[in-house]
Amino acid sequence: MPTVSWDPRGPSVQMIDQRLIPNQVKTLQLTSIEEVIEAIQTMAVRGAPAIGAAAAFGLALAAEQSQAETVDALRDELTESCEMIARARPTAVNLRWALDRILRKTAEVRYQSVAEFQAAVLAEAEALAEDDVRINRRMAEFGAAELPDRATVIHHCNTGALATVDHGTALGVVFTAHEQGKQIHVLVDETRPRLQGSRLTAWELQQAGIPFDIITDNAAGYFLASGEVDAVLVGADRVAANGDVANKIGTYMLALAAQANNVPFYCVAPTSTFDPAAATGDEIPIEERDPAEVLGLALLGQPVSPADCSARNPAFDITPHRLVTAFVTEQGILRPPFTDSILQALQSKDDQQ
Ligand code: MRU
Repeated sequence: MPTVSWDPRGPSVQMIDQRLIPNQVKTLQLTSIEEVIEAIQTMAVRGAPAIGAAAAFGLALAAEQSQAETVDALRDELTESCEMIARARPTAVNLRWALDRILRKTAEVRYQSVAEFQAAVLAEAEALAEDDVRINRRMAEFGAAELPDRATVIHHCNTGALATVDHGTALGVVFTAHEQGKQIHVLVDETRPRLQGSRLTAWELQQAGIPFDIITDNAAGYFLASGEVDAVLVGADRVAANGDVANKIGTYMLALAAQANNVPFYCVAPTSTFDPAAATGDEIPIEERDPAEVLGLALLGQPVSPADCSARNPAFDITPHRLVTAFVTEQGILRPPFTDSILQALQSKDDQQ
């Protein structure tokens, strides 16, 4: 089932509750925009493209439940709803991109009735979710072609079906390479503090029958230096115009270790994750989350830090573009100089629309 979808009964936004995986697979039926925002903030749904889709369906829900009597009144309400949803998580640009796509598309039309406008918002949210899967599959074909027939890759965070509507970005490359008969072994960074790697990526790989080992994040340098790793594959939450990458905390250290050991470092991301308005990574806001996520871990039933400690918990970091070998996008592989190749990819995407 898709990670996020629209359920006409209710109606509601349906999503897999990622906080419970791998212990339980449960779906949530969210019936208000407030519930959708809370699901994004508490990471019941996470991963840049998945929160983009959740935001889009959240907006469709807001439209459906609106009491607005005119098209203009509904437009004003939805603009306000977009601001509320966009604040839920600041780093992944797909959230804002998804909302802007719906507002822009629906701004082009003069609707005759509120019902017609509501239907158009939902249709655009559905189209966005369908595009996500199509784009991921196309991107994965490009990425899989970069991998040898037998490869060991390090993967950070979760970028699989759960981080998107379906198939995934960096992990989508692994799924497609596996479907093509390539023998891929994945070293799964556990990804402290939320453990998206050991909880979600390992679960997805297990279901797909792809061999993997979970490693602690701080073991990545050891494996990169050992010569047994052919590539590092990561996703992105936002890519600046110059190719600086905001992705899950720990990506920067991984990229440094990959470069020091001459291991190619691929960032797999749809063009919707590129933000031409951010000239460099310095302009990307980094979400800092509750210290309880760092301090709350238990080991053998015991707390892992003394009581009353403070902690810092940046959820993302910036990997400078000089550490990235190439971007894998639905427009193909983008190589340095990235300022040119990114601009070109974004222009060809606009021409196709
Ligand atoms: O905090 P999360 O779990 O939402 O962070 C997710 C990541 O950092 C992913 O690597 C990124 O969104 C790309 S997923 C296709």
